Amino acid sequence: MEKNSLHFNFKFTAISLLLMHCAKFSKAANSKGPSPVLGKGTWQLLLNNTGVVSMHMALTHHNTVIMFDQIESGQSGYRLKRRYNGTRCRGTREDLEDWSCYAHSVEYDVLRNRIRPLHIQTDTWCSSGSFLSNGTLVQTGGFGHGSRRIRYFEPCANGHICDWKQTERLLSDDRWYATNQILPGHDQIIVVGGRRVFSYEFVPRLPSNKWKSYDLPFLHQTYDKNEGGNNLYPIIHLSSDGHLFIFANRDSILFNYKTNRVAKTFPRIPGNGSRSYPSTGSSVILPLSHTDRFERVEVMICGGATSDAFSASQHGRFLPGLESCGRMEITGNKHEWKMENMPGPRLMNDMLILPTGNVLIINGVKNGSAGWNSAANPSLQPYLYKPKRPLGRRFSVLRMTKIARMYHSTAVLLPDGRILVAGSNPNNRYTFRNVPHPTELRLQAFVPAHMDKKFNNRRPHNVSIYRNGGVGYGKEFSVHFHLRNTKPRNLVFTVYAPPFTTHSISMNQRMLTLRCRNLVRAENGLINAHLEAPPNPTVAPSGYYMLTVVNDGIPSVSQWLRFIHA
Ligand SMILES: *[C@@H]1O[C@H](CO)[C@@H](O)[C@H](O)[C@H]1NC(C)=O
Ligand SMILES: *[C@@H]1O[C@H](CO)[C@@H](O)[C@H](O)[C@H]1NC(C)=O
Ligand SMILES: *[C@@H]1O[C@H](CO)[C@@H](O)[C@H](O)[C@H]1NC(C)=O
Ligand SMILES: *[C@@H]1O[C@H](CO)[C@@H](O)[C@H](O)[C@H]1NC(C)=O
Ligand SMILES: *[C@@H]1O[C@H](CO)[C@@H](O)[C@H](O)[C@H]1NC(C)=O
Ligand SMILES: *[C@@H]1O[C@H](CO)[C@@H](O)[C@H](O)[C@H]1NC(C)=O
Repeated sequence: MEKNSLHFNFKFTAISLLLMHCAKFSKAANSKGPSPVLGKGTWQLLLNNTGVVSMHMALTHHNTVIMFDQIESGQSGYRLKRRYNGTRCRGTREDLEDWSCYAHSVEYDVLRNRIRPLHIQTDTWCSSGSFLSNGTLVQTGGFGHGSRRIRYFEPCANGHICDWKQTERLLSDDRWYATNQILPGHDQIIVVGGRRVFSYEFVPRLPSNKWKSYDLPFLHQTYDKNEGGNNLYPIIHLSSDGHLFIFANRDSILFNYKTNRVAKTFPRIPGNGSRSYPSTGSSVILPLSHTDRFERVEVMICGGATSDAFSASQHGRFLPGLESCGRMEITGNKHEWKMENMPGPRLMNDMLILPTGNVLIINGVKNGSAGWNSAANPSLQPYLYKPKRPLGRRFSVLRMTKIARMYHSTAVLLPDGRILVAGSNPNNRYTFRNVPHPTELRLQAFVPAHMDKKFNNRRPHNVSIYRNGGVGYGKEFSVHFHLRNTKPRNLVFTVYAPPFTTHSISMNQRMLTLRCRNLVRAENGLINAHLEAPPNPTVAPSGYYMLTVVNDGIPSVSQWLRFIHA
C-alpha cells in the first residue's frame, strides 16, 4: 500500500497538476444527479456446500467471512477428522452422532472462494456479536452451556490459522436472541435483551461498575407473551447524540445507557403487526452525512409480520407479511414515522446499505413468521431502495434467485461490491429430504448492476489510502484513485462499518459520506483526494471501515481503513 502511494505521488509531480475544489465534482454542482445505472444485477453460485448453515455471518478486515450455526443440530455438512480436544472421530454410530465430530463454524476466504473449519466449544445458537476497534470479533451468548459465554475471534490473513477463543468470564444473564452494539468509548459493547431476559449489560464491564446487568422496563413493556415475544433481537442503532435507539415489537425509545434512563419515547410505528422476532423485520440507519456534521440520523424499518402470525403458523396458517416500511428522524424534535410500501409483503429480510447509499432488501419470505417450519413462500427477488428519490419512485425489483433464503439465512456486503448470501434452515436438524424447505448449504453472491463491467469507464480504479496505520478523528487523509476515460462527476466518498448479521439484524451496520477538502487531478486520470475523517467516535465508533469512492453512481472496489483515537 505504502509503495503504491509513492508510485502515485511520483506520477503527480511528473505531470501538470490541477488543484480543484471537491464541490465542483460533488452532488451540489450537478443538480441532475448521477447518470442512470440500468440493470437488475446477477447471481453467482460460489460453493455447493459450505458445510455449516450460516445462521450468523460477519466480514473481517482480512476479507474472510466468519459463519456459524448452532451445535444442537448435531451433524452438520462438514465432518471433522478430529475433535477439538484432539481425539479421532471414527465411523462408529456414536461418533457419527456426536456433534463435536462436525464443524459448526467456518471461515470463508473471499479471494480464494474456499472454506476452512473452525472450532466452537459451546452452543452459539441465536447469539449476537460485534467487532471491537482492533477488528477482533466478540460474540456473546447462545444456548444451554453457551448462553452466558463470551467468545473472541481475532481474524488473520490468509495462510494463517486463527480460531474461536472462549473466555472464562461469563455474562451476567443468559443471552439468547440478544442484540449487540459497540459503544463510542472504552472499546465496549452493550448486549441488550434475550429470551426471558429483560436486561442489558456491558462487555467488558465498565471500570466503574460491577459485573452485572441492568433491568430495561422497555423490554417488559414490548413483550408479547403469547406470540413468542415479538421483541427479541431488538433493533439497536447508535445515534449521533450518543444515545441508543432501541426498537422492539412496534415501539421505540432513545436510551441513555450511561444513566439508565429513557431520554425519549417515539411514536408507535403504524401497520397492523410487529417488526421484531419472531415477527422479524429489518432496519438500517440511512447514511450519515458530513453536510450536517453527521448530526441528522434517520432510521428505516421494513417488513415484519402481523401480530398473531407466529401462533397462526403453529396451526399451519401462514399469514401474509407486512408490506410497509417506516422512516423516522430520531434526532431533532419532530418525530413521525413516514410510511411507504415495498413492492410486496416481506419478513426475515436482510437490509444492507450499498456503497451508493442505496439500501438492498434481500432474503426472507412473504408469509408466516420466524421460527422452525413457520414460514412459506420465499421472497426470491431482492428490492433496491433509493432513499433520495421522491416517494413512490424509490423501490425497484431486482433479479430473482432460485434458492430460498428463509429462517437462519444471512447476507453481507463484500469489498468487491458483491453481496454474499448464505444459509437457510427452517428445520432444527440438517435435513435435505422430505421437508418443504430443506437445509440450504449453497453459497451465492448477488452482483448489483452497478458492479457490471459495462460501467467500468465510470468506475474509480486503483483506490489506495495513504495513511495505513489508521486515521484519527477529524484528521485529514489522502485517497488516490484512477478515473480512466472520464472526468470526475458526482464524486462521493463513503465509509461502511461491516455488521455482524443474524436473524435479519445487521448489528453495528452504518455508513457515512465523508467531506472532501480538495482534489488534485493529473492529466493521466490520477486523482488525489484529501478527505476529512469523522469528528468523533460517537458518529463512527473506532474500528475498521470499508472506504469506497463513488463516481457518477458507480462505486470502486472498497479498501479497508481504520478510525482510531489518535
Ligand atoms: C454445484 O453442483 C452442480 C451440480 O452438481 C454443478 O453443476 C456445479 O458446477 C457445482 N457448482 C460449484 C460452484 O461447485
Ligand atoms: C474429547 O471429547 C469427547 C467428546 O466430547 C469426549 O468423549 C472425550 O472424553 C474427550 N477426550 C479427551 C481426552 O478429553
Ligand atoms: C484486540 O482487542 C482484544 C480485546 O481487548 C484483545 O483480546 C486482542 O488481543 C486484541 N487483538 C489485537 C490483534 O490487538
Ligand atoms: C390485523 O390483522 C389481524 C390478523 O393478524 C386481523 O384479524 C385484524 O382484523 C387486522 N386489523 C386491522 C385493523 O386491519
Ligand atoms: C400467503 O398469503 C397470501 C395472502 O393472504 C395467501 O393468498 C397465500 O395463500 C399465502 N400463501 C401460503 C403459502 O400460505
Ligand atoms: C490499476 O490496477 C490494475 C490492476 O488491478 C493494474 O493493471 C493497473 O496498472 C493499475 N493502474 C495504475 C495506474 O496503477
